Amino acid sequence: MKAVEMKKDIYWVGAIDWSLRNFHGYKTGHGATYNAYLIIDDKITLIDTVKHGFEEEMLSRISSVIDPAKIDYIVSSHVEMDHSGGLPCMSKVAPNAKIITSFPNGQKGLTAHYGNLNYQTVKAGDTLNIGKGNLSFVTTPMLHWPDSMVTYCPEEKILFSNDAFGQHFCSTERFDSEIDLPLVLWEAKKYFANILMPYGKQAQGALKALSGYDIEMILTGHGISWKEHIKDILACYESWSNYEVKERAVVVFDSMWHSTEIMAKTITDAFVSRGIPAVFFDLKTNELSDIVTELFDSKYLAVGSPTINNQMMPTVAAFLCYLKGLQPKNHKAFAFGSYGWGGQSVGLVEEELKAIGCEICLEKIRNVNVPSEEVLKDIEEKIKSIR
Ligand code: FEO
Repeated sequence: MKAVEMKKDIYWVGAIDWSLRNFHGYKTGHGATYNAYLIIDDKITLIDTVKHGFEEEMLSRISSVIDPAKIDYIVSSHVEMDHSGGLPCMSKVAPNAKIITSFPNGQKGLTAHYGNLNYQTVKAGDTLNIGKGNLSFVTTPMLHWPDSMVTYCPEEKILFSNDAFGQHFCSTERFDSEIDLPLVLWEAKKYFANILMPYGKQAQGALKALSGYDIEMILTGHGISWKEHIKDILACYESWSNYEVKERAVVVFDSMWHSTEIMAKTITDAFVSRGIPAVFFDLKTNELSDIVTELFDSKYLAVGSPTINNQMMPTVAAFLCYLKGLQPKNHKAFAFGSYGWGGQSVGLVEEELKAIGCEICLEKIRNVNVPSEEVLKDIEEKIKSIR
């Protein structure tokens, strides 16, 4: 397999995981790529490696440019194994290569994963000369691991951004100029929503730290890299890291005998009648990572569950558990659901929405058995009353 030249003497030498459909729970409908970059300078430098199992693909791409044994430096931007999994192999193939990692968290994390390899630590602001070019390291702790860092090459005006600005998206194209922009931005939003959402403050810090850099190319750790739409992706990160929401509703539910489903449809239509676009998600047939992507920048959230054995449906509990971990912000929410007797689920959902940090914008809506026309009319009126 061949390397892809991104700019003179800078090559993409990563791997494409076309068949991946689950990245630690995140559903990757378009697969994933593990991007690594080779810089040919006086010191030959590899930026990141690939997930374990894809080393041969990376090595064959490197070998299409140079002998991998000649690599002098391997920058490990992030300990997570989708980027560092190839380090043990590379340490054997290029035994003289120094592994550049952040101090102390990168070194600590890599040692815990792979033992004592040939590490050289760097701190925020350190620069490594590799010949004609220099590499400056910007630590981005908790974006999204303690060790995370990005690397800037001032001579080339390139930012090697690792997880930031990336997407889980497979393609033979490497740049934003070669592919449908809305699709890539949607995948970038999905990535931010499902992986970076808890770290808005850290993302703001990183954007601030990078604001003084002249960037002509962002070479990402996953998916498509940016050169034509850098302003667009930076503007998106500004908005996403500030948790900006739009007048839009997301209705999420599970149903046993369609009564909660009928309520969900009525709620969805009632939002639309108010001029608020709404998206309808049955938890039986939708992936949590897709729901969270839609919810992330939507103001309203309605969550419905019937009562089963005095509880909410397990699918609803799983959704709320996933959402809680992501620490969403700026959502107005309410609970609804149908029940036969007992009817505890709706109150439990409401409590969980409060615990997640949502503002309860409507008294919970509970209905016994099949909702009548009057009940549905009443629901429509209630949705109209939300402020
Ligand atoms: Fe792509 Fe956090 O690893």
